[in-house]
Amino acid sequence: RPIPGPPGHPVVGNLLDLPRGRMVRAMTDLALRYGPMMKINILGGDRYVASGVEMFDDLCDETRFAKFVATPQRTLGGALPTRGLFTSESDDPLWKSAHEVLLPAFSMRAIRGYTPLMIDIADQLMLKWERLNPGEPVDVTADTTRLTLDTIALCGFGYRFNSFYRDSRHPFVEAMMVMLAEGQARLRLPAPVVKARRGARRRFDDSVELMTSTVQGIIDERRDSGEPGDDLLGCMLAGRDKDGARLPDRDIVSQCITFLIAGHETTSGLLAFAIHFLSRRPEVAQQARDEVDAVLGTDPTVPPSDAQLGRLTYLSQILEETLRLWPTAPAFFRRPLEDTTVGGYEFAAGTPIMALSMALHRRPDVWGADAELFDPDRFTPERRAVLPPNAYKPFGTGARACIGRQFALQEAVLVLAMIVQRFDLVADPGYALDVRESMTIKPQGLMITVVPRRGLR
Ligand code: HEM
Repeated sequence: RPIPGPPGHPVVGNLLDLPRGRMVRAMTDLALRYGPMMKINILGGDRYVASGVEMFDDLCDETRFAKFVATPQRTLGGALPTRGLFTSESDDPLWKSAHEVLLPAFSMRAIRGYTPLMIDIADQLMLKWERLNPGEPVDVTADTTRLTLDTIALCGFGYRFNSFYRDSRHPFVEAMMVMLAEGQARLRLPAPVVKARRGARRRFDDSVELMTSTVQGIIDERRDSGEPGDDLLGCMLAGRDKDGARLPDRDIVSQCITFLIAGHETTSGLLAFAIHFLSRRPEVAQQARDEVDAVLGTDPTVPPSDAQLGRLTYLSQILEETLRLWPTAPAFFRRPLEDTTVGGYEFAAGTPIMALSMALHRRPDVWGADAELFDPDRFTPERRAVLPPNAYKPFGTGARACIGRQFALQEAVLVLAMIVQRFDLVADPGYALDVRESMTIKPQGLMITVVPRRGLR
């Protein structure tokens, strides 16, 4: 069967249908128009985009499909001392080793141990917002990015970027941004042009060097202290894989950088989108306030406990619904291990297939005619129980699914609860949601005002 897709133009194919900075949204619109499996052509190369639940049923079958490491991930991984969890091939022995060593550090039990550190950073955000003058606008995405970056650095390896106390970025953060931006830029450039851009290449190499040497310094300091610690770094220094082997230092450096990148971009976007929806939907905000006041009480000086966080079910539904409409990692890639079919279409072994969660999550045949509407009630336990198993995939799938999922959700529910307990969120009526696309998606230009709730201060 031929795979449907938009008609292309000579030479460029469908490139013009996918404008720079809007690629994911354009691809989602096309997928919803052309069907659950779509073929597009970019500069002569065919690409396959899956978005139907029957396609995801196949792609998530771990006996027939594996992760495909796509170009942006490969660029990122190629710059690190070793590939790191996120960017390695599944048959890389270092991936297996690191996965085994790190799994316990991301268990629910371990994550509860990070709650006081998460509260430490969340308190800094609360304090900042409490001290704003009335009507002073908040740059939501900038603040959620400060928060998630500082949280993963503190929980990951006991390091404080102190992003809420500085006007400019920490040199490490600056280096990380240069690395990410250059990784993205190289995607659109032919190899000879990448080589010719000497200045950009030097900045990229210098940034990678600064990041690796900083993390190596932190590792040396920790080892010299004689106390491995009980954060992610401690777990990597002390842990052994199933064969009893330790992780080499070079790999620990790569994993730390991987966590910083994978752990902050996605969660900051999730929080920013959720804040946007809360500021726009008074009835959702009211239900959130009712839940938070009932579970946490109205005294913000008492920090939330893990047991209380576990009872904030409506807040969790808000986060799940936010990730449905705006999965901040909007796609992942799979490849067939052998020749096989996906939703009835034939594919040769090794063919990369994009699993576009953002389109899957908006399909009317799964989510109803109101699929574009933000409605946290889609995730009540009763409705969740009847969802098709592969209809909701914001954290990827199988062995290569997100290892930080519980970490992200614990952090997001905690921060959202602390915000809702303290503030009413007021939208700018002139703002229409805009999105910045890079490796992840985030709201762009989202400014709100925050009003401390009556009687709380
Ligand atoms: C993998 C999404 C938060 C660390 C993934 C994948 C997705 C994802 C879709 C699979 C990628 C693929 O198949 O190519 C998200 C979202 C998050 C989030 C939506 C927040 C809302 C985090 C956090 C951390 C983290 C907080 C670390 C603390 C990782 C790592 C992998 C991964 C290391 C690679 C796992 C492996 O292949 O072994 N994430 N993530 N993520 N994520 Fe997350």
